[in-house]
Parts: sequence; structure tokens; C-alpha cells
Amino acid sequence: MTPQHLTIVKHPLVQHKLTLMRDKSTSTGSFRQLLREISLLLAYEVTRELPLTTRRIDTPMQQMDSPVIEGKKLALVSILRAGNGLMDGILELIPSARVGFVGLYRDPKTLQPVQYYCKLPSGLDERMTIAVDPMLATGNSSVAAIDLLKEAGAVNIRFLCLLAAPDGVQRMQDAHPDVQIVTASLDEGLDEKGYIVPGLGDAGDRMFGTK
Ligand code: URA
Repeated sequence: MTPQHLTIVKHPLVQHKLTLMRDKSTSTGSFRQLLREISLLLAYEVTRELPLTTRRIDTPMQQMDSPVIEGKKLALVSILRAGNGLMDGILELIPSARVGFVGLYRDPKTLQPVQYYCKLPSGLDERMTIAVDPMLATGNSSVAAIDLLKEAGAVNIRFLCLLAAPDGVQRMQDAHPDVQIVTASLDEGLDEKGYIVPGLGDAGDRMFGTK
């Protein structure tokens, strides 16, 4: 059963593109292009509940009160570095979004996330804030990134990823039950190194062509 705070986007286009991305024979260029395309579709889902108001406009025919998004521009926060790949596509759809970055690395001894960079937009308390990272694996860095967003005042937070592992979803639910997770797939689990299986490998390496 899908936990209540988890949305799996089962749209055929999303699932088809995800299969191509998982395939290890897919080139770096195609992987990046697919990520851009899939991020547009996921952005559609994650912004579904943005509140609307109306604005009076004149069409060439008559005046009308027409729907527009209410309140402050939303904030996108990329969890470096793989988050950037997801964010680029979303910014095409929402070019006026404010953008932040959180950099975390995993301490090899403690395996705990250590922050090395954090730059966030102002007014997070008044914006829907979407944190993006393609892979929700152990959940350690995602939870730490959400901690930082909340310390900066964010109250209305979504977490957008391509793949999620059950451990990561549970960890997020325990630490941040108010955060809705939107993903294209809930995979089977993690391997001994914390990689998602069946997964797609290292998302950063695959999108940037590094090793
Ligand atoms: N990060 C990745 O890039 N891939 C995984 O499978 C897990 C974490």
C-alpha cells in the first residue's frame, strides 16, 4: 500500500521515460534529455495544489476574472549536485520560481550528512517550497536538507524525486511527516552501499558523464 504522504506518478509517459533512464545502455545525452522531459511531467504533479485566485483581464472579446496562482512565487531548492538535473526542467515550466541550493556530503566515518553549502531564497515562510533530488535512498541527506529549509522558515514543503526507496520514504515520514513526497517510482530497496535497486545507478554520474 502506498503511504499517504507519497504520490507515485504513474502516467504512461513518465513510466516509459523512466524505463529508458534506468537502462544502462542509455547515453549521457539521452539521460539528460529524458530527465528534463520527465521533470516537466513531475512538476505538473507536484504543483497540482498551488492555490489560485483570479485577476481581472480584458480578452479581445470582453472583460473576465481569470485564474492566476495566488501568493508569492514558489521556491525550488536543489540538493546538490544531482538535484540540478531535475531543477533545470522544472524552471522551464516555472521560470519565475525562486531558486536555492543545499550542498551535503556523506561523512565516510559516521555516514551522516555534512553541510558544505546552503543558499536559500528569502520569504520561505510564504512560499510553497519544492526540494528536488532525483534519488531518495537512505533519506539521510533529504531529511537534513528539509531540516535546513525548516530552519529557514519553510512550512509548506514538497519533496520531488525520480526514484524512492522504502527506507528513505520511512525516514522522511518519521522526521518530516508534513512533507509530501512525489516520485515516479517506489523501488524495491537499497544495496549494501545505499544505492537504490533496481534503480538507475548514480544519478549524478549518469547525468554529468562522471565516474
Ligand atoms: N544516489 C544515487 O545517485 N543513486 C542511488 O541509487 C542512491 C543515491
